[in-house]
Amino acid sequence: MTTHHASATPDLPLDMIIFGGTGDLSFRKLLPALYMAHLHCNLPPDTRILTIGRKPWSREEYINEFMEAKAKPFIEKKAFDAAAWDKFLALFEYVRMDVDSVEDYQRLKEASRDGVRRVFYLATSPDLFTHICENLSAAGLVDENSRVVLEKPLGHDLASAQEINTAVGKHFSEAQIYRIDHYLGKETVQNLMVLRFGNAIFGPLWQAPYIKRVQITVAEEVGVGSRAGFYDKTGALRDMVQNHLLQLLCIVAMEPPVSLDPDAVRDEKLKVLRSLRPMTPEDIARDTVRGQYTAGAVNGEPVKGYLEEDNVPPGSRAETFVALRAHINNWRWANVPFFLRTGKRMQKKVSEIVIEFSELPFSIIPSGGRNYGNRLVIQLQPEESIQLQMLAKEPGSGMHMLPVNLNLDLQQAFTERRAEAYERLLIDVIRGRLTHFMRRDELEAAWAWAEPILEGWSKSGDKPRGYTAGTFGPAASTALMARENAVWAEESQ
Ligand code: BG6
Repeated sequence: MTTHHASATPDLPLDMIIFGGTGDLSFRKLLPALYMAHLHCNLPPDTRILTIGRKPWSREEYINEFMEAKAKPFIEKKAFDAAAWDKFLALFEYVRMDVDSVEDYQRLKEASRDGVRRVFYLATSPDLFTHICENLSAAGLVDENSRVVLEKPLGHDLASAQEINTAVGKHFSEAQIYRIDHYLGKETVQNLMVLRFGNAIFGPLWQAPYIKRVQITVAEEVGVGSRAGFYDKTGALRDMVQNHLLQLLCIVAMEPPVSLDPDAVRDEKLKVLRSLRPMTPEDIARDTVRGQYTAGAVNGEPVKGYLEEDNVPPGSRAETFVALRAHINNWRWANVPFFLRTGKRMQKKVSEIVIEFSELPFSIIPSGGRNYGNRLVIQLQPEESIQLQMLAKEPGSGMHMLPVNLNLDLQQAFTERRAEAYERLLIDVIRGRLTHFMRRDELEAAWAWAEPILEGWSKSGDKPRGYTAGTFGPAASTALMARENAVWAEESQ
């Protein structure tokens, strides 16, 4: 699939229209990101922001109850400028709407201007995407300058994702659709492309048999918080693995694209997703681990178990942790396992990719009985760093080697401000840059691989394994690695 796109679209006046404008994502991420874009003069000169919600608020009430009370605290203190904030607020209009009511779209039509670029940001449940797009189109709000942003997770399985894509595709061309995965907006994730494709030294080594194994971990300290209504139906596989972790895997594993054009990059990611070896029921039983946190302590603070959290149905089987072993069936990666792991209420917040290079075929230098291989550790969060673990001589008489790190601290190397992922991606949408958004076929290939795992779990009748909050997940996750004489990164330090 290719998408015809205009890369440098001229800046038309902008109406940014946010569905779900009174929701969590809006006040935590979208509105602070738009404020930062405004502060740094990255919004087109004639911008208006129309937020849509069901609450019967006046504009003033929306500003006071929502923007001031809820969104403002999420703006970094040092970036807050009262004059810029006032100008920012002046861009806002609140449109009270019931998205189910056809008549209410006329109200939106009256509030939005003609001859502008309308960007519709659908920060709602995916069940509403089809309906909203149909109604926008019927109300005459969609034209060739419009764009639509779809939040993840897009659907809950392959069929629902296809259905939404087809329905949205009736009103917007592929080049107008921005399927967001905010991991693709992270500076460090984009930097991974530069590490791979801007540094010749890794090229020849970036494949089997020089790479033995890859680990990708996204561990969070937070629990489900107030999102149980959403999370309990979703679980970690749909919330994190199907999108964020698979996208990281794609960037690690893809062939060099011919350019940075959206389709060139997305074609290569698609090939990786299509090469993922489908998991059979036996693979699922052997190579996947799902867990659910039980009461414990994170950073010395006692925390509840998942089942005790607000709004979690009794006996819920939603997984808050997943570890699995994936394989990519192609020449570059044959027999190189990719271990993916994510969880809530883990011991510490860390997102990292560990490339484990093969060990020496034969060592003439003693290393205390261990055969160390070089490792490249790319940490995305909380620190942005790249470490290459090398073997060096232990000082003293005799010849012994030990691992030491060649350390690149990106926060020290570049002191410029780092924009948050949502800010960068919103600017990309406004400028018409699709490279860091998922194309339809990519998203569906990710679902095609993930769905059998969900089915396998539900057929097996097993419950997720409990793990104490504040640990790195159930013991079975350690065992998954131990089977091939390996350990997760934190256990090897
Ligand atoms: C979101 C998930 O997509 O990513 C959340 O829905 C998760 O459950 C979040 O907490 C993690 O994002 P980040 O940027 O904090 O790593």
